[in-house]
Amino acid sequence: MKIFLDTANIELIQKWAHTGLIDGVTTNPTLLSKEDGNPTVAILTICEMLPLGVISVEVTEKEPEAVYMQARKIAAFSHNIAVKIPCHPHYYTVIKKLIEEGITINITLVFSLTQGLMMAKLGAHYISPFVGRLDDIGSNGIELIHHLRHMLDWNGFETELLAASIRDTTHFEKVIMAGADIATLPVPVFEQSLNHQLTDKGMEQFAQDWKKLNISRFP
Ligand code: G3P
Repeated sequence: MKIFLDTANIELIQKWAHTGLIDGVTTNPTLLSKEDGNPTVAILTICEMLPLGVISVEVTEKEPEAVYMQARKIAAFSHNIAVKIPCHPHYYTVIKKLIEEGITINITLVFSLTQGLMMAKLGAHYISPFVGRLDDIGSNGIELIHHLRHMLDWNGFETELLAASIRDTTHFEKVIMAGADIATLPVPVFEQSLNHQLTDKGMEQFAQDWKKLNISRFP
């Protein structure tokens, strides 16, 4: 299973990029708006930091033809870009054309099984269902991940299931168990996922017990 960081913060990506745990980064207009500086420079920097990772960058244009042109320009930033396009009927034709041209596409704002199926049929490389936002409206984000997993497997689609809008470690654990190919994690969730209070407690206990031996060299 792959782990992406869901952030546009260069310092935080830098902190974790070389650990071998990070397979990519997802950005969106909201995440980019939270950072200082020019978004193009930020995206180029992120692409260089993770040359083997997949960096998702979302279109900001609205009209299909403008989306098409912008997607091509975004894809030209770097070999490791996936262009994010919202799962909206306006863009089906554009998405198909871009995929046929060899541009890696991540379909974002996926909220239903049928949307996922349609995008997999188009050959999207990634579909991004938003778990937390479904929970926000009283729906069940994790159930959608399970359903999309079955749909992709039953049909033999190669589209990767990218679980997004992950709000906490419980969400993360549930999308692992639901068979997501990728989870994109806000950095605090990623960092919490590395920790457990019993690990800290156990280390403290071992250190204290070892001291009782009162030996200065080991081995
Ligand atoms: O990857 C999508 C993510 O950034 C959206 O998360 O918490 O705004 O629903 P959230």
